[in-house]
Amino acid sequence: MNAFETCALSVRRGSRDVIREVSIKLRVGEVVGVLGPNGAGKSSLLGAMAGELSARSGEVLIDGRSLAGLDALAQARIRAVLPQQAALTFDLALTDVIRMGAYPFAQATPAQVDDWVRQSVLDADLAHLEAARYGELSGGEAQRIQFARVLVQARAAAAATGHAYILLDEPTSSLDPRHQLFVMQRMHQLARSENFGVLIVMHDINLAAQWCSRIVLLNEGKVASDAPPTIALTPKTLEQVFGMPMRVLPHPLESQRILVLADVNGSSSSSAG
Ligand SMILES: Nc1ncnc2c1ncn2[C@@H]1O[C@H](COP(=O)(O)OP(=O)(O)OP(=O)(O)O)[C@@H](O)[C@H]1O
Ligand SMILES: [Mg+2]
Repeated sequence: MNAFETCALSVRRGSRDVIREVSIKLRVGEVVGVLGPNGAGKSSLLGAMAGELSARSGEVLIDGRSLAGLDALAQARIRAVLPQQAALTFDLALTDVIRMGAYPFAQATPAQVDDWVRQSVLDADLAHLEAARYGELSGGEAQRIQFARVLVQARAAAAATGHAYILLDEPTSSLDPRHQLFVMQRMHQLARSENFGVLIVMHDINLAAQWCSRIVLLNEGKVASDAPPTIALTPKTLEQVFGMPMRVLPHPLESQRILVLADVNGSSSSSAG
């Protein structure tokens, strides 16, 4: 059974459990959004699924195998990670940064890597920047390059095993509205067309509601809700998790969708049906 899952996972950081008995399942073909307030444990959850933080109890399974039992190379060959803060600051050519995604795949031919890079450059809308150097890019452009690097890694993994998992920690945080939409739309399409299971940590509730098949609401290290957007995002749960009243309305432009608004007047009633 292909899935990337956490089973009653608890993770300790400092003197506290920042993830507490979290069980979530990411399947191939779906985009799951992880939402929650600052400090809720979203990056810690991603860190545990990336193999960077170890479980205090419970476990992380990837396609039925314990992640802890896989070495770093084996992990990199099945899941790609975009951290919240990408550390790289070297002044490399843009395509060299993107090609790094293929490093774990020594058997890939240069032609294959060229092909993955070309597709990923388009998926991150970077074609006009191809001659640029990494050190001279804006924050949002650099974020899109890291996104393209992760896509190359996922494409290489899917070429090797038939599917791949992608973990993205706030991939749209520095992007303008058009590129936020662009990135989410692409992940939505590629999850299905290229057999990716995608987990995206984000803060924009409406962007998540539009493009994610499922929303995991995390609060104080625990899952407050794990369901399709229209079920997970209720005024009651949103207020519990975010500590502020919100309204959930039927989307004015699309049926089946909702729109979440901060309720500045404080009455958290729902008119979504
Ligand atoms: N290196 C660390 N040592 C100790 N505690 C840490 C460390 N990193 C994070 N924490 C704590 O773990 C908790 C969860 O942090 P995490 O980064 O997972 O939150 P988050 O949900 O990703 O928040 P944000 O929306 O701000 O990115 C926080 O209370 C934080 O203070
Ligand atoms: Mg975070």
